[in-house]
Amino acid sequence: MSEPDSSLTVVRDVASLRRRVKVWHGEQRTVALVPTMGALHAGHMALVKRAKALADAVVVSIFVNPTQFGPNEDLDAYPRRDAEDWALLNAAGVDLIFMPDASVMYPDGFQTAVQVPAVSQGLCGTHRPGHFEGVATVVTKLLLQGLPDLALFGEKDFQQLAVIKRLVIDLDIPVDVLSVPTVRERDGLALSSRNAYLSEDERAIAPKFYATLSAAAAAIANGADIKACCAQAERAVLAAGFSSVDYIEVRVADSLLPLKVLGSEARILGAATLGQTRLIDNVKIPAQQAGG
Ligand code: PAJ
Repeated sequence: MSEPDSSLTVVRDVASLRRRVKVWHGEQRTVALVPTMGALHAGHMALVKRAKALADAVVVSIFVNPTQFGPNEDLDAYPRRDAEDWALLNAAGVDLIFMPDASVMYPDGFQTAVQVPAVSQGLCGTHRPGHFEGVATVVTKLLLQGLPDLALFGEKDFQQLAVIKRLVIDLDIPVDVLSVPTVRERDGLALSSRNAYLSEDERAIAPKFYATLSAAAAAIANGADIKACCAQAERAVLAAGFSSVDYIEVRVADSLLPLKVLGSEARILGAATLGQTRLIDNVKIPAQQAGG
């Protein structure tokens, strides 16, 4: 790998992270943080690229956060690819990797939790109880540990993004939260570390989820009934071979409140299971083609 990347280091404790960031801030350099759970793919790397463009120094955190996984979820199976991740981040010119152990993030006696109840309600919140509390708590910690100027998150996890935007406002955390559009495979499937779980047959079916959400978004923009479109999309996803649909719903993009009239920015969001793999995706509903 080429030379300018050779300064990439890994730190595993908060004091070392803070020391580095303090030096950069002392040099008037801006710092961006990209929180991840590793097993990096082009979606994560789009966040890193944007961070590189916007800030002088880029920190990527890698932490598979146990508190955001439910008891029957894939914490143990979640892909871990440290060497590959390091190589990708090194090639991308990232300055620092923060890779804490669970004992650093959750030391003995840990008991504090961050809840963002309204935004966390419904959608994935219904199907993954406690998930957004785990996300909100760990992201709050990462932001306070690093105190970056910016932090970047993907639209792929749209409800997570809304939760994080809300908690940063509510807790006066001095960071700009920026979002990056979903990176997709050529056939439309949103990149996800969990796509690795898909069999060949499932992989062939998976893009139908995005195609269905996109078709529903277009129909709604053209004035079709929202409820009917969501129900039709659900049927189409099941007919394509998915085993279950957790939800397909239209919400107001910023607040994630239920959408009453089309006109404000709207988003269709969905979660469905294919074999053993739960996929989520969301699509913007093109604005103002319908009356309202
Ligand atoms: P993880 O799933 O590793 O994702 C890290 C970041 O990459 C998130 O902001 C996510 O939205 C973004 N991302 C994932 N796939 C993407 C894609 N296809 N296009 C664009 N961005 C994408 O999300 C988490 O980790 C965790 O919940 C975390 C925020 C790190 C807290 O533990």
